[in-house]
Amino acid sequence: MRLVRLIANLGYGSQKEVRAMIRDGRLTDSDGVPLSMDSRVGHVGVRLDGEALDPAPGMVLMLNKPVNYTCSTSDPGRVVYELLPERFGRRNPALAPVGRLDRDSTGLLLMTDDGALLHRVTAPRSHVPKTYDVTLARPLDGGEAAIFASGALMLRSETTPLAPATMVATGERQARLTIVEGRYHQIKRMFAAVGNHVEGLHRRAVGGLGLGDLAPGRWRLLTAGDIARIFERGDLSDGQEG
Ligand code: URA
Repeated sequence: MRLVRLIANLGYGSQKEVRAMIRDGRLTDSDGVPLSMDSRVGHVGVRLDGEALDPAPGMVLMLNKPVNYTCSTSDPGRVVYELLPERFGRRNPALAPVGRLDRDSTGLLLMTDDGALLHRVTAPRSHVPKTYDVTLARPLDGGEAAIFASGALMLRSETTPLAPATMVATGERQARLTIVEGRYHQIKRMFAAVGNHVEGLHRRAVGGLGLGDLAPGRWRLLTAGDIARIFERGDLSDGQEG
């Protein structure tokens, strides 16, 4: 790929702005030799102002989403892209959330520009487990875990029952819940179906990958090992803090 397009696709600027960067000598090879418009150099060999470039397409990151941010590009309120470098919002292919978290939910949000990976995680038949800590308005009544595990719970306006989900009570009004689907407002609707109301929802893991010590509002790139963990069975016994 031509240098101008490579840099513009990473969101560093328009093609016009990238041409200006080249004229100004800001784009160099790894030895500091200025690159020209027609340089054909691989991604890893390019430096911008002496710095290595952002990851090539195929990047995956995790964000610890705080409350009051939406997983959208166009929302009148705050959007998760504001928590990333601004240029990440201009990448081509675009960086997209891997499944959504509601505005009032917090925790592990994956984002990628890799459509195949996104599909592998979110396709209904993938059954990648997602584990949440839930805070409820009313005390648990003790019957919820069996109802959620039954595979027979039908949410209002749905035509197929929910796949079995695993719940353990972690307090009078707290539960840890692992679901393998991603239906619209699924957890809020599950607890509404048993007469309760979700007051707080925090995603702590996707598959076997947890947040670790990533602080709210912070993000980090995933390694190949992290990505593999997404597809490990992550459930209530994963023992991983996050
Ligand atoms: N279920 C919900 O109801 N909300 C979320 O954000 C995630 C799962």
